[in-house]
Parts: sequence; structure tokens; C-alpha cells
Amino acid sequence: MPKVTVPDHGTFEVEEGKKLVLALEDNGINILHRCGGKAKCTTCRVEVTAGDLGALTDIETEAFSRKGIQEGLRLSCQVRVYDDVTVQPVMTEGNSDLDAGPRPTE
Ligand code: FES
Repeated sequence: MPKVTVPDHGTFEVEEGKKLVLALEDNGINILHRCGGKAKCTTCRVEVTAGDLGALTDIETEAFSRKGIQEGLRLSCQVRVYDDVTVQPVMTEGNSDLDAGPRPTE
């Protein structure tokens, strides 16, 4: 099974093909996903510091350009884990005053 590492949190194995946002949440990281995984809010974005999550999708490109967000990030609601990766969530309940939001679908 692929492994996801989050600095200052640890490394955990995830089911191959699992949506990254759910892998993070199910392993105790209170990442925001304010739009429920619909690629609208970008609060689920993560910085990828190692590994590969595949090519940036058109949906992500569109969402990031609409929000004026820099490259090098991924929307964790739009990518699935097939290989080992290291990611740093940008927005969590711990570093914002926001609730996580509705859980994205599997
Ligand atoms: S863009 Fe809103 S949860 Fe991913």
C-alpha cells in the first residue's frame, strides 16, 4: 500500500487509489474541505514536497487560476494516492478558525 507522509504528523499507509483528502482526514489530520470536494474552495490544497500524484488535472488548473493561487499545490479532493508521497496541508482546523466542511465523497 502507498504511504503518505505529513511532516510533524507522521507516515501512514493508505488504500491504493484513496482520495488524498480522505486519507489525510482518516489519519487524524483535520484538513479543510469546505466545498465538500467539489473543486470550488481550494481549502483542501496541499503542498507536495516528495512523490508523485500524477499530472495536474484541468479541474485543478481552473480552480487555482480562478483563486489566483500559485503553482506547486494540489487539490487533495481531486487526487488519489497510488505512490508514496509527502504532503503539507495548507489549511486545517488547527491553523484557521473554520470547520473542516462537509466530507467529500469516496
Ligand atoms: S476544493 Fe473544496 S474540498 Fe477540495
